[in-house]
Amino acid sequence: MSNKDNSPSYRDLILGVNKKVPLISGKCVTAINFDNAATTPPFKSVMEDIIDFAPWYSSIHRGEGYKSQLTTKLYENSRIVVSNFVNANVNNTVIYVKNSTEAFNKLSNLLYEPYKRNVILTTDMEHHSNDLPWRDKFIVDYISIDEAGMLSLEDLEAKLNKYNNYIRLVTITGASNITGYKNKIYDIAKLVHKFGSKLLVDGAQLVPHAPFIMSNKNLEYNIDFLIFSAHKMYAPFGIGVLIGPKSILDKCEPDIVGGGTVDIVTHDYIKWNDSPQRHEAGSPNVIGSIALVSAIKTLSNIGMNNVERIERNLTSYAICQIRNIPNLKIYCDLSKETSRVSIIPFNIYGIQHALVAKILSYEFGISVRSGCFCAQPYVVKLLHISNEFLSKKIKNPDLYSPGMVRISFGIYNTYSEIDILAYALNKISLKRDYYNLKYGNMKKTLFDV
Ligand code: ALA
Repeated sequence: MSNKDNSPSYRDLILGVNKKVPLISGKCVTAINFDNAATTPPFKSVMEDIIDFAPWYSSIHRGEGYKSQLTTKLYENSRIVVSNFVNANVNNTVIYVKNSTEAFNKLSNLLYEPYKRNVILTTDMEHHSNDLPWRDKFIVDYISIDEAGMLSLEDLEAKLNKYNNYIRLVTITGASNITGYKNKIYDIAKLVHKFGSKLLVDGAQLVPHAPFIMSNKNLEYNIDFLIFSAHKMYAPFGIGVLIGPKSILDKCEPDIVGGGTVDIVTHDYIKWNDSPQRHEAGSPNVIGSIALVSAIKTLSNIGMNNVERIERNLTSYAICQIRNIPNLKIYCDLSKETSRVSIIPFNIYGIQHALVAKILSYEFGISVRSGCFCAQPYVVKLLHISNEFLSKKIKNPDLYSPGMVRISFGIYNTYSEIDILAYALNKISLKRDYYNLKYGNMKKTLFDV
């Protein structure tokens, strides 16, 4: 075990870190969560703030009662907290949605105008949520990646030149949910703006892990639209965020209509509210907004620079501990120059990714995710899967599904947990035959223990 554990105080901020989970042997161990890129556990402060607020919870926007006014005030003020957290500017508006996926779907609906600029430039490294919602309404083209899986700025420029006046939006991930690579969003914004287009950054994997600046004094470098989700930042109450220029969003027809979206309605006339209300149909997720504000407060107290540093140290330590494990291959550039968030994708030759994830859970109490992480085109490229195999897989979905194992850290993870992971991966690698035999056809779940 290492004695390099980070400050236990960060662990104290999180609910559930000491929960024990059963192993296949029937023994119980303290759960280790290395699946923070999928979702983070809640901050204790988030749960406390919700409990404190709950007695005041009341009808929002439409009530004169004291509790209604308070609820409305907290909900509307939360937009300012969110906006400040990502350094949005006063010309932006904060629209609440369920999660990042809903935000992409919404924006794709809002920006669609038949016969207008109809090309969306996205990339080969996106989550499906920043790919599929654009496909049925726009011509979508994908900026390519290089051998290491990093975005090609040359190809971005070539595609900007190719489509020029037809581009509705360029939309890229701020940080990949597979390789953790951070894209050079300000260089990209500069380029995109030079071509008179707008940039959307998928901040789902970036905003929770590093300081984020949407806008600075030099307008040329602004990020125009930003999307992120609270459940990846210790606030799991079903709220996500879409931020964009009010001047644009005020002109978009709402995609979901009903209560709250309108100013005047007659049987043959509608005047929509301005944004954000025109794009938030129905009673909003007040509890989600309280949770998000609370998480932002706690993250800001830690300091996002500290969050980034802590997670970078955990990631570097994990790489040192696992990179020399026999048969283990890591699928991202590990050089110091490459800027990444706290994610490591890997495989162990001779044992399937899903089985590795299962063994980590069943034998060691370690949670990770395996597969393609909702980014199949990217994973397929990183694994160099041939088109021939893909054609076979499309015809026969029962064929083996390629993928990887992913570990991803939060501020509360420890070096000791990484030591246990390294021990486990070493053992899995050395005893592949044994584990393949033991788990290859096992249907038993941990609930059968
Ligand atoms: N998209 C999330 C992930 O990467 C759920 O796991």
